[in-house]
Amino acid sequence: MSAEGGWATYPSLAGRTAFVSGGASGLGAEFVEQLAGQGARVGFVDLDVERGRALEQRLAAGGAEVRFLECDVRDVPALRAAIGRVAGELGVIRVLVNNAANDHRDKVAEMDEALWDDRMAVNVRHHFFAAQAVAPGMRDAGGGSIVNLGSISAHIDLMDLPGYITAKAGVEGLTRTLAREYGPWAIRVNCIIPGWIMTERQLADWVTPEAEESIARNQCLPQHLMPDDVARMLLWLAADDSRSCTAQQWVVDGGWM
Ligand SMILES: NC(=O)c1ccc[n+]([C@@H]2O[C@H](COP(=O)([O-])OP(=O)(O)OC[C@H]3O[C@@H](n4cnc5c(N)ncnc54)[C@H](O)[C@@H]3O)[C@@H](O)[C@H]2O)c1
Repeated sequence: MSAEGGWATYPSLAGRTAFVSGGASGLGAEFVEQLAGQGARVGFVDLDVERGRALEQRLAAGGAEVRFLECDVRDVPALRAAIGRVAGELGVIRVLVNNAANDHRDKVAEMDEALWDDRMAVNVRHHFFAAQAVAPGMRDAGGGSIVNLGSISAHIDLMDLPGYITAKAGVEGLTRTLAREYGPWAIRVNCIIPGWIMTERQLADWVTPEAEESIARNQCLPQHLMPDDVARMLLWLAADDSRSCTAQQWVVDGGWM
């Protein structure tokens, strides 16, 4: 479904620098594209070099100022370096989107310490260190917007995701504490909680006929939720239009019950 009169535009994002982790595919790629579409300069990192480069080239060919860097967000020094490079090349980062994650399924009985630490590193640790890295620049520039990606999985009945769900619940707490810490610097910190979004990977790996039945039963709205549905929430939270909103969770789930 498209908006009858077109979607909103956000003039405050034009010329602003944004940083997106996990931006080569899925929701992250949609965030990169939509931010660039508003005239923002966008730096993004991912493990997937092929898709990252392809997105960078496609958007640059359309006139956008985008920079892709290969980076594993579990490697905090590498993440700090990527953030520093984007700020140096594209300008002070005013919008941070902590999006990279991995929802690998794990059996509770098979979890060990190394796997647990890895699940935390990819699903919650980098959010903190990316925020810590961008905050001084945001403060000096007069403020900024940090958006963390949580998940509906921390609120509903799901199995085989113990590390992911624990980390995603942690993202909500992290959002609130960072909002309190950084509020005096006019840095807002919010959490988007997506429902079941039809990214390529979800469609390929998890959206079975049984899953379709579950969506039909549990969502109030009948439509498939698409990446751009979440990106429009992200744009609003990134822009000055939401300047008095912080420490909140913004649920885009079609009314999952
Ligand atoms: N799609 C959904 O239904 C859904 C639902 C709830 C929450 N979310 C959340 O939204 C965000 C995006 O989800 P998605 O569905 O687009 O995920 P996805 O798996 O499709 O994409 C994640 C991206 O992050 C990258 N990535 C993974 N590990 C990385 C690492 N160590 N370093 C750098 N990049 C890495 C991947 O290469 C990929 O490009 C995640 O935080 C996810 O938890 C998604």
